[in-house]
Amino acid sequence: MADESHAESTTSSRWQTRPRPPAPEPLDEPPGPLKMLRILRTNPIEGLVRDHFELPFLMLSTVVGKLAIVSEPNAIRHVLIENAANYSRDRIQRKMLSVYGPNLLASEGEQWRNQRRQIGRAFTPRMVAGFTAAMADAAVALAQRWSALGAGSRIDVAHEMQRAMISLLEQTLFPGGLGRDLDEAIAKVRRQFELTARVSLLDLLDLPRWIPRLAQLRLRPVFAFFAQMAADLITARERMLAASPAAPPSDFLTALLQVDESRTDSPLTRDEIAGNIFMLFAAGHETSASSLCWAFYLLALDPEWRERLEAEADRELPDGRFIEGSLERLVVTRAFIEETLRLYPPIATLNRQAIGADRVGEHVIEPGTFVIVAPWVVHRHRRLWEMPDHFDPSRFLPPARDNIHRYAYLPFGAGPRTCIGAAFAMQALTITVATIVRNFRLELAADSKVWPVHRITVHPEHGPFMVLHPRRAN
Ligand code: HEM
Repeated sequence: MADESHAESTTSSRWQTRPRPPAPEPLDEPPGPLKMLRILRTNPIEGLVRDHFELPFLMLSTVVGKLAIVSEPNAIRHVLIENAANYSRDRIQRKMLSVYGPNLLASEGEQWRNQRRQIGRAFTPRMVAGFTAAMADAAVALAQRWSALGAGSRIDVAHEMQRAMISLLEQTLFPGGLGRDLDEAIAKVRRQFELTARVSLLDLLDLPRWIPRLAQLRLRPVFAFFAQMAADLITARERMLAASPAAPPSDFLTALLQVDESRTDSPLTRDEIAGNIFMLFAAGHETSASSLCWAFYLLALDPEWRERLEAEADRELPDGRFIEGSLERLVVTRAFIEETLRLYPPIATLNRQAIGADRVGEHVIEPGTFVIVAPWVVHRHRRLWEMPDHFDPSRFLPPARDNIHRYAYLPFGAGPRTCIGAAFAMQALTITVATIVRNFRLELAADSKVWPVHRITVHPEHGPFMVLHPRRAN
């Protein structure tokens, strides 16, 4: 008995020292239909009720049809893997994602398989490992930019991270550069996210595409900018491939433009190539930038782990450079990032729609049912995590990490549609966080209020705004 109460008090004191970062409190009751519609369009995670975080399965009737929310790990495996062929992306999401033109995220069936095979050639473990030096250069350039701003400068971390991740994409996937002014590209992509973040009511109600959506009209100049950027990139690379066909650069653009003749791939159409350039540019930087905003905010909230990360970065990057094996040895940094992605998964929901009838556990799924696996919910589920709303990266340190069920932690999804850029992103985040932590402490600005909103990604509603404190003279 004495031992038990000692164990209990040790456990509770462990949690007392852990931060509980901001998140909407689950509601007791679902809001009424009008309020719900408003919440769905502004910040859907504010409409979640306690049942979402306590029950393994929920079936709801909504204005758009039946909606199943699946949060039990074996049921998740069934939907995302065992019977993945029966669950396509849902019609609302497909419409939203097709704004880029035909692309991997938005397609299904043979068109998806063909694109996935070809784009996959640019994301093999060997290709990703080969990006280490370029990612480290991008992180050092960011540190230099901040050094030039000077101690005590106030920065908008969201803007800085968006900029840094676009530069990182330029140095890895688009090594010849994007051929556009970075700040202009950022302004355009921000406009695109603003205009596409809210689900159109017309799309929600499945009204025909010929009825013009206001956002679509406003988006035209943005799309024209990115269409021209993609066309210029394609033309430049085609010229380069024609000039030196024997030794093409082995990268993402070549993977899109050259068919692997040892396989049965069909060449991608020009629209598919352009659509994928635009989509990868957008999907590739926005998710990583949101994750970094949360990581730097959480570091400021958690002095204990900040010191652990600083000690690790000082040890592994003594002269600020990545050497053989340093990436693998950043285990504390990696655990910190994994816990950040648990509490703030940039992709809050994986949205599917049942093609045929199915059974998930004891529950019947009718054709057409919307099926949602929500990392935001699963990662904070009362049945799956101890003190789910508390931030504790030690959950991801060995050996504790082995106790996490594979389908209880899904920041990159799972199954055939799993994130093609997962290893790329984890590497980019680890390198960026370690480089910044080695050089700076970021303190939350006194007037910076941080609140998560789910609009395309889960990101802080404003900023965060932070103050730079250099940790070393250079
Ligand atoms: C922290 C960063 C990232 C997170 C959390 C993330 C998350 C995800 C998730 C959850 C999915 C699956 C969606 C679903 O099943 O419905 C996904 C798909 C995808 N991601 Fe990422 N992603 C990240 C970074 C990246 C990067 C850096 C790239 C490329 C440069 C990328 C490209 C893609 C693509 C193309 C897909 C669609 C795959 C398909 O449908 O076959 N992502 N991502």
